[in-house]
Amino acid sequence: MIMKFPRSLFTLLLLEFAATITFAAEAVHDKFRPGELWPDDKGVPINAHGGGIVLHEGVYYWFGEHKIEGEAGNKAQVGVHVYSSRDLVHWQDGGIALTVLDDPKSEIVKGCIIERPKVIYNAKTKTFVMWFHLELKGQVYRSARVGLAVSDKATGPYKYVGSFRPNQGVLPLGFDAGSPPDPARLKDKNKKRLNEAVVAGDMVWRDLERGQMSRDMTLFVDDDGKGYLLCSGEENLTLHLHELTDDYRGFSGKWTRFLPNASNEAPALFKRAGKYYLFASGTSGWFPNPGRSAMADSIWGPWTVLGNPCRGTETENAITFESQSTYVLPAPGHPGEFIYMGDRWRPKNPIDGRYVWLPVEWENDRPVLRWHAEWDLSVFARHNASPSTGE
Ligand code: GAL
Repeated sequence: MIMKFPRSLFTLLLLEFAATITFAAEAVHDKFRPGELWPDDKGVPINAHGGGIVLHEGVYYWFGEHKIEGEAGNKAQVGVHVYSSRDLVHWQDGGIALTVLDDPKSEIVKGCIIERPKVIYNAKTKTFVMWFHLELKGQVYRSARVGLAVSDKATGPYKYVGSFRPNQGVLPLGFDAGSPPDPARLKDKNKKRLNEAVVAGDMVWRDLERGQMSRDMTLFVDDDGKGYLLCSGEENLTLHLHELTDDYRGFSGKWTRFLPNASNEAPALFKRAGKYYLFASGTSGWFPNPGRSAMADSIWGPWTVLGNPCRGTETENAITFESQSTYVLPAPGHPGEFIYMGDRWRPKNPIDGRYVWLPVEWENDRPVLRWHAEWDLSVFARHNASPSTGE
């Protein structure tokens, strides 16, 4: 016998079923799912690799490298993509914020390399300032420059200003201008002596006139409004911290180097309870390696190495949950808590690269990462039980 539901009850059941489905879809979509495809408001996977985020008037703007299919996608064919969001999970496509040009005379001609774009807001000039790693077309990774573009609007269009080798002719803090080394020291075949020469800063002298190398990079704005470029200099061997001018469009001349000859890439800087923290990676190109972390009482150092922040299986730790750091974002509504943003690169088909976002957890003063297949900001409520953050 076929049971007959009264029409109204049937409709009610149907509605409830539909609501369950919608709820289930939203529930999945309301979480961070590291490594999974992450659709934007149009259902298209977010295309913002090596990215960073700026918060402005309650809106988060995520900037990253726009990749295309195939190995050509490892070079800049389109530009820097921007998305906006109020909750960090749902992202609206804001289009291409900085477009590469067809003009072969332009430094940002199609086919150059644009990596790790970061944007900060300058309150004095009321403009958004974008810096990125720039490699000139046809020069592979030899130019090691940092590019600058500005816009009145967060989503752009950004106007390309130019590129730099930072701090031409300027020695870092603590260097004695009267004691340039013997250039032969950098050619020494003896590993120990070569190491000593790099640690002592011989490459800084080598690059003094044309400016320092700048490859993987990030930006950081401190509580006092000072802006910084932190980048891999000296053939990716040593990190360089360059203070920016008040308008964030140039270098003040104050700079330092830290963790010499330690090969740190993919730097991401953050501050908690007055202390500075750093996530970084080793240097293995697009392939993930064990993550690194460090802390300092002053941004100028000295920096103390804290080791691999990953707290997973041996395999997960060896590849940082298959990711490479790109940015650390303060968690909304949870002062003193942070989100690790990493890239899972796919060098054969870069457009398929994924994002690995994880909550930063704390072992006393030490930031650590654990795998969460699915999570949301409520994980931070648990951390709030931990000691005061001083924020
Ligand atoms: C990585 C770096 C990436 C990209 C890549 C190219 O080490 O972090 O940003 O430059 O090398 O191989």
